Amino acid sequence: MIQLRHLLATADLDRASAVEVLDTAATMAATQARQIKKLPPLRGRTVVNLFFEDSTRTRISFETAAKRLSADVINFSPKGSSVSKGESLKDTVLTLGAMGTDAIVVRHAASGAPHRIAHSGWTNAAVVNAGDGTHEHPTQALLDAYTIRHHLAGGTGDLAGLSVVIVGDVLHSRVARSNVRLLETLGANVTLVAPPTLLPVGVETWPCAVSYDLDQAIDQIKPDALMMLRVQHERMSAAGGGYFPSPAEYQREYGLDVPRLGRLADAAIVLHPGPMNRGLEITSAAADGVRSVIVEQVANGVAVRMAVLYLALTGKEER
Ligand code: NCD
Repeated sequence: MIQLRHLLATADLDRASAVEVLDTAATMAATQARQIKKLPPLRGRTVVNLFFEDSTRTRISFETAAKRLSADVINFSPKGSSVSKGESLKDTVLTLGAMGTDAIVVRHAASGAPHRIAHSGWTNAAVVNAGDGTHEHPTQALLDAYTIRHHLAGGTGDLAGLSVVIVGDVLHSRVARSNVRLLETLGANVTLVAPPTLLPVGVETWPCAVSYDLDQAIDQIKPDALMMLRVQHERMSAAGGGYFPSPAEYQREYGLDVPRLGRLADAAIVLHPGPMNRGLEITSAAADGVRSVIVEQVANGVAVRMAVLYLALTGKEER
């Protein structure tokens, strides 16, 4: 069994260990159909959810995962804590360490904050990145890969030969960054589709293809999976806006609507990490249609996070 010291980025995983995380998640998922869902392996361990940025599903998912494994869970949010009095990240982490914390699940607006916590010597806890700035969101990529594998690869092994098209606000998306790396590690062919203004500098060095034309990508690549990204209004307005002419034009060029949905291959699936802007990057017909696996992604997120916490925390004494 692999042991994860930390999970900071998808590049931490080679193909064999990524497959092992997915296999462990499948074992966890099998226990979650039972009436009594709680398992004992993390009894007596403490997991702190340190969320400096807003979150619905990721925070609740990590909390559920830790509780299903019988860990004690502490939820920290900066509002109402001494962070609002100006306490630094370092002192916050030292304080958590003094209280005996085995794992810190961190979401932070600053790219690199989880690396800082993991490698600063401030704590011995395992650090799991739950989204850092526009950098990485590795457990989201793992749950996406899990969902794709479940539907399109028989639920085992890697994703060799599958094609995945990721559409939209790549520039601001830690989900896209993590997915491109992990999907490539697992053998999938990835294409990013976005307007040039929403692609990051240096995207040509990423292990994927790039296109500006969604209709062409759908017709030529015939993707097995189409992943729609949220238009991240809050990060756009913080930078002054102006990334596309109008919501209507974005929707027309890059939104998943009924005609585009109808041109997908029969077995193709539609993913979105949430939260969705319904009517912008995805219509309700696509979000709620038969190809959509968006609600399943959320369910799979619990199993994947159970696997990550389990692999990071069990056998830790022997390390
Ligand atoms: C994503 C995030 O926060 O990075 N959401 C999530 O964790 N499910 C994507 C987003 O906010 O658009």
